[in-house]
Amino acid sequence: MSRIAASVLAADFGRLGEVVVESEAAGVDRFHLDVMDGHFVPNLTFGPVVIEAVRRRTDRPLDVHAMVREPERLAPDLVRAGADLLAFHLEATPHPHRLLEAIRGLGAKAGIAVNPGTPVEALADLLELADQVLLMSVNPGFAGQRFIERTYRRLETLVRMRRDEGLGFEIAVDGGVKPENAGRLAGLGADVLVAASGLYNGRPVAENLAAYREALGDPGGALPR
Ligand code: DX5
Ligand code: ZN
Repeated sequence: MSRIAASVLAADFGRLGEVVVESEAAGVDRFHLDVMDGHFVPNLTFGPVVIEAVRRRTDRPLDVHAMVREPERLAPDLVRAGADLLAFHLEATPHPHRLLEAIRGLGAKAGIAVNPGTPVEALADLLELADQVLLMSVNPGFAGQRFIERTYRRLETLVRMRRDEGLGFEIAVDGGVKPENAGRLAGLGADVLVAASGLYNGRPVAENLAAYREALGDPGGALPR
């Protein structure tokens, strides 16, 4: 059953703590925290201080999605701040192999994210070191963008690579995931679905989450980590 990772990017940052508490109570499986540096992507969000603050408000796992140049520089601080999993972009460093090992060495799970324009085949020699592949279904930078349809084919390719190599990394899909496409993504093999604007849009989180659960044929209740 696919898990729902709540990206607070579309939430009201003026009440971030309450949003986190409300989301946990609603039953989100984990949080997905989008760190942006204004260079790798054309937007700036937050860093370790805010991750630490979220960490204090929830026991749910924190997946940190680093959209930053030179992710190796920030990785130790992001893990120290409370990331259970840290995903960085293949496009952001010449040494993704080294960084995956380093993140595991820091005691976190290691994830690798790929932009929509990067062939998933480029991940081939990294997959055995990855706990998660974060397949971007929008160009990273903003919540509320439209899902790129080609993602379905990319997901199929990645699932095939995982099977052929006998590997166990999880596949997360990030960007434009709504109840309307969640079922198809889960059916193709996505383990984690990231949602920002589908969860944080003025309606209660519990109600929005229920729509995802229904689309997934899931009776509800957060899954163990
Ligand atoms: C985009 C971020 C996503 C974003 C998803 O750069 O990586 O995690 O918050 O937002 P929605 O679900 O609104 O597309
Ligand atoms: Zn993200």
